[in-house]
Amino acid sequence: MTRTPGLMVPLLGLSLGLALSLPRAVATDCGSLGRVEQLAFAPAARTRWLAPRFRAPGPLDSLYGTVRRFLSLVQLNPFPSELIRALLNDPPSVKTDEVVRYEAGYVACAVIAGLYLLLVPITGLCFCCCRCRRRCGGRLKTEHKAMACERGTLMTFLLLTTLVLLIGMVCAFATNQYTHSQTGPSVKAVPETLLSLRGLVSDVPQELQAVAEQFSVPQEQVSKELDGVGENLGNIIHNRLKSTVYPVLASVHSLGQALQVSIDHLRALNATSVELQEGQQHLGAPLQAHREYLLTLLQESWCRGSCQGVLSRASALQLGADFSQVPSVDDVLHQLKGVPEANFSSMVQEENTTFNSLPLLVAMQTANVVKDLKKALAEQPEGVRMLAQEFPGSEAASRWSQALERLELHSRPYLQEVQRYETYRWILGCVLCSVVLLVVICNLLGLSLGICGLFAREDPSHSETKGEAGARFLMAGVAFSFLFAAPLILLVFATFLVGGNVQTLVCRSWESGELYEFADTPGNLPPSMNLSYLLGLKKNISVLQAYRQCKAGAVLWKVLQLNDSYNLDKHLDIKQYTRKFQQELQRFKVDVKDLDLLTPEARQDLEALQGSRLEKIHYGDFLVQIQKPVVKTDMEQLAQELEGLALAQNDSALRQQLQEEARELRSLYQEKVVPQESLVAKLNLSVRALESSAPNLQVNASNILGNVTYLKGELPAQTSLILRNATECFLTREMDYFSQYVAWVKEEVTQHIATCQPLSVALDNGHVILCDMMADPWNAFWFCLGWCTFLLIPSIIFAVKTSKYFRPIRKRLSSTSSEETQLFHIPRVTSLKL
Ligand SMILES: *[C@@H]1O[C@H](CO)[C@@H](O)[C@H](O)[C@H]1NC(C)=O
Ligand SMILES: *[C@@H]1O[C@H](CO)[C@@H](O)[C@H](O)[C@H]1NC(C)=O
Ligand SMILES: *[C@@H]1O[C@H](CO)[C@@H](O)[C@H](O)[C@H]1NC(C)=O
Ligand SMILES: *[C@@H]1O[C@H](CO)[C@@H](O)[C@H](O)[C@H]1NC(C)=O
Ligand SMILES: *[C@@H]1O[C@H](CO)[C@@H](O)[C@H](O)[C@H]1NC(C)=O
Repeated sequence: MTRTPGLMVPLLGLSLGLALSLPRAVATDCGSLGRVEQLAFAPAARTRWLAPRFRAPGPLDSLYGTVRRFLSLVQLNPFPSELIRALLNDPPSVKTDEVVRYEAGYVACAVIAGLYLLLVPITGLCFCCCRCRRRCGGRLKTEHKAMACERGTLMTFLLLTTLVLLIGMVCAFATNQYTHSQTGPSVKAVPETLLSLRGLVSDVPQELQAVAEQFSVPQEQVSKELDGVGENLGNIIHNRLKSTVYPVLASVHSLGQALQVSIDHLRALNATSVELQEGQQHLGAPLQAHREYLLTLLQESWCRGSCQGVLSRASALQLGADFSQVPSVDDVLHQLKGVPEANFSSMVQEENTTFNSLPLLVAMQTANVVKDLKKALAEQPEGVRMLAQEFPGSEAASRWSQALERLELHSRPYLQEVQRYETYRWILGCVLCSVVLLVVICNLLGLSLGICGLFAREDPSHSETKGEAGARFLMAGVAFSFLFAAPLILLVFATFLVGGNVQTLVCRSWESGELYEFADTPGNLPPSMNLSYLLGLKKNISVLQAYRQCKAGAVLWKVLQLNDSYNLDKHLDIKQYTRKFQQELQRFKVDVKDLDLLTPEARQDLEALQGSRLEKIHYGDFLVQIQKPVVKTDMEQLAQELEGLALAQNDSALRQQLQEEARELRSLYQEKVVPQESLVAKLNLSVRALESSAPNLQVNASNILGNVTYLKGELPAQTSLILRNATECFLTREMDYFSQYVAWVKEEVTQHIATCQPLSVALDNGHVILCDMMADPWNAFWFCLGWCTFLLIPSIIFAVKTSKYFRPIRKRLSSTSSEETQLFHIPRVTSLKL
């Protein structure tokens, strides 16, 4: 016996609870399938997204504001819808007086400019003639007391005028340069924007096609996961059932071992009790003979010593235990004949292997369904396939594309012209700014030299050259001013007329929304500029509404009202496709018939054990006999006492007889009693083992039989339940890939492909380019230059007046005619008291 029977009890007892816990062990846990992978889709949309433009705030902003306010004073009339409509649809019908009335502010400015253009050169000419005839602007005739004060005031005014002129000149230079630098990028942005607008509708079908094709991404992923699905599901089932099946198998294994041990004990019990009975038969007669002989010997009269004491021991020389009294186990043994027929440990091993190969088994059993699933998977859902084909705007797309292409082609020469004229304007601007700079320099130089000359007069040995030179510089400035007044006013007025009208007619009404209102009023725009016409749409599109919707992120076909039937959600509805997949998936079946847990032989063994009444054997009857000694007296001691007694005898014959008897008793003991005793010990062992194990063995056998039967009945249902849950998890997981695709398509289509963001941004950018980047600096340029132009008048006056004070004062007498003939010659003054 290798293990104590008591140890088996808890192990076998386990199986009862296990079978009951089986249904609760099934809970859905989708985590065992691993994490859902994030699919990577390639973006389908071209980079058509227009970056919004804006003018960064700068130091000139307040100047722009001033110019705008000035222009709003010049143009007080509202947006001339009638006039513009006539101009766009039928140019000859435009009446001049209407234009003049609308442009009244500009006409007034034109009158001022005309006056300037006429008066300043004429004055210059007169002044020149007058100087030639020495009538004016020459020298100071007499010195008087207020002269210093007058001179100081004049010099201050001249200086102030010159400084303001300088500021205007710097500002004109800067705006001239800024306008020029903005023109290139602004002109280039036009075809860029047009191209982007072209793609707005025309590229949509191809891009939708590219998106539809990426349906293969989730398809491939699902197909990849289908390859291993059988084994995965098998693993899930195996893992879920493991905690139930392994202990049952283990308890079957230990029950098999216990059964073997008990059967062995029972056989030993039978064999030893039979042997004991036989031994007892062979022992009974010699014992009887020895007893009778000893009794006669010891009762002899010549027996000396303690014969009576030995006599009582000898009279007990009889059989103690009677093994013919033990119950027969033949019936039980007969019932258990041939048990165990099954090899429990190899059977358990085999069943365990079968159970462990469940993943492979499931993979094999699901292979066909997986093949069908892949076939169902390979198809593309109808909606996705028709994503691009059903795009309603393909006809409109080409028309739109052509219209924009035409527009681009037509605008190109104009844009080149614009750049050319802008270059001329820039050069002219540079030249005229330089002239103003020259005037400023002349004034400053003249002033400083003149002041130096005045100080030099203190010195008696002074020379008059400094004052002279100062006066000459001032007169040179005056000459430049007269000479360039006409080109200056012409440039200022031309740029003012253009820039001012762009600002008041376009920019102002664009900002106020009047421009959109005008465009949306039917009949205002010629058909070639009608958006509905261009896109070939049945419905009329409001530009303002389209702009607002695009800005709010609406989808293209909604904004363009291409077709009410184009519903992205309908196209992306793949329920029908997934339902087919789901139906196929539900065909997954797993057959666990092969898992027996107990072979028929093993079952027979256990049933034989149940019917054997092993526990009903009266082990107590055995124990009663076992506890009795084999021989009622201790034969060794008896032999010893006989030998002792023999020595006390005088009679040699008696002595010899006693000694002989002692020897024979010893050998009888050795030959018959000792083997009998060892058989009793063996019997003791088997009886006690069986007595304690038999009841448990029965209980466990019936438990295991019950459990195995229950499990065998329950396993298919459990397996299919687990399979259904796991399949559900798998389906959810695979559907997640399709959901990822749908979400991506929705985002891609609405945010990138069918977005009309470029439309609103193009309009915004158009406004920024035309008004903020071009019109504002342009207007600031003529404003600064105009400021310089008009400041030339006070500059001329103060320069002429001031120059007189720089010239030397000479008495009429000492003047020489030769000196007076020079244009800007200043007569010498011999003495001057300040
Ligand atoms: C069955 O096999 C598994 C895995 O090989 C092992 O861990 C387990 O002990 C086995 N059970 C029995 C009862 O042999
Ligand atoms: C009991 O043991 C004896 C002796 O070994 C044998 O002859 C007999 O067949 C056994 N009884 C059974 C039922 O096996
Ligand atoms: C607009 O949708 C209808 C169905 O609602 C369809 O018959 C028609 O062809 C579509 N029009 C265009 C231009 O795609
Ligand atoms: C555009 O043209 C359609 C006819 O082609 C016309 O019904 C609609 O009023 C026009 N829209 C505008 C804003 O002129
Ligand atoms: C039988 O076995 C029990 C315990 O195993 C022991 O106490 C007893 O002495 C044994 N009896 C005989 C007669 O050997």
